[in-house]
Amino acid sequence: MGSIRFSLDPDVLDLDFKGAGIFWALETGTWTGRTTALLASHFRRVWTVEADKEVYGRLPSALSQPSTRYVHGDSASVLPKILVTEREPCFVWLDAHWFPRLAERRISIPPTTPLLKELMALSAWQAVSRSFIAVDDVHLFHHEDDRPNYVPKNWPKWSDIEQVTRTWPQRQIVFEDVLYFVPDALLETFLDYIEHRS
Ligand SMILES: C[S@@+](CC[C@H](N)C(=O)[O-])C[C@H]1O[C@@H](n2cnc3c(N)ncnc32)[C@H](O)[C@@H]1O
Repeated sequence: MGSIRFSLDPDVLDLDFKGAGIFWALETGTWTGRTTALLASHFRRVWTVEADKEVYGRLPSALSQPSTRYVHGDSASVLPKILVTEREPCFVWLDAHWFPRLAERRISIPPTTPLLKELMALSAWQAVSRSFIAVDDVHLFHHEDDRPNYVPKNWPKWSDIEQVTRTWPQRQIVFEDVLYFVPDALLETFLDYIEHRS
């Protein structure tokens, strides 16, 4: 499966997002809220969306910061409603999907991801081209996962993702199992980040 990291690399947040005019963040798939808390320590405002009622109901203290807006629902339908209220570019972490831990805990989330609908919602948003967008767990879209209950045909293909994002001007970079869409303002420093991690 290659290099897999299970969450956002905190070092990515050292890029100069303020300099690129990015002051808020959006996450889909909250789970424990660990990444949400990380985002909340770097951005003025963070939206996070979780579909499962039990997961959502745990309300971890990590999500209690006033800057965090925690929404229950399917990100495919929640995202357009959030984006209509926001005009400025943002840091996006797309991480809503089924994974084996949900089955272990008998949480019934459909065994797939809302990713294509999320990308379509972003495509229709006026600030998409200035945003820094990261899609986690890229191997799932190359249909390379050998964990129990992973059914490749349930997942979008890489070509589907390319089709939906084909007009985005950002540089597309895959690094450590994450697909990044990097706007010009952050490209040089992002390439430095990769060089130092490699
Ligand atoms: C891999 S975990 C997210 C991990 C978390 N973002 C992190 O960085 O630590 C996936 C989460 O997505 C949620 N999820 C799955 N489908 C969803 C959907 N359609 N909308 C919102 N959340 C969803 C699952 O319930 C689960 O909590």
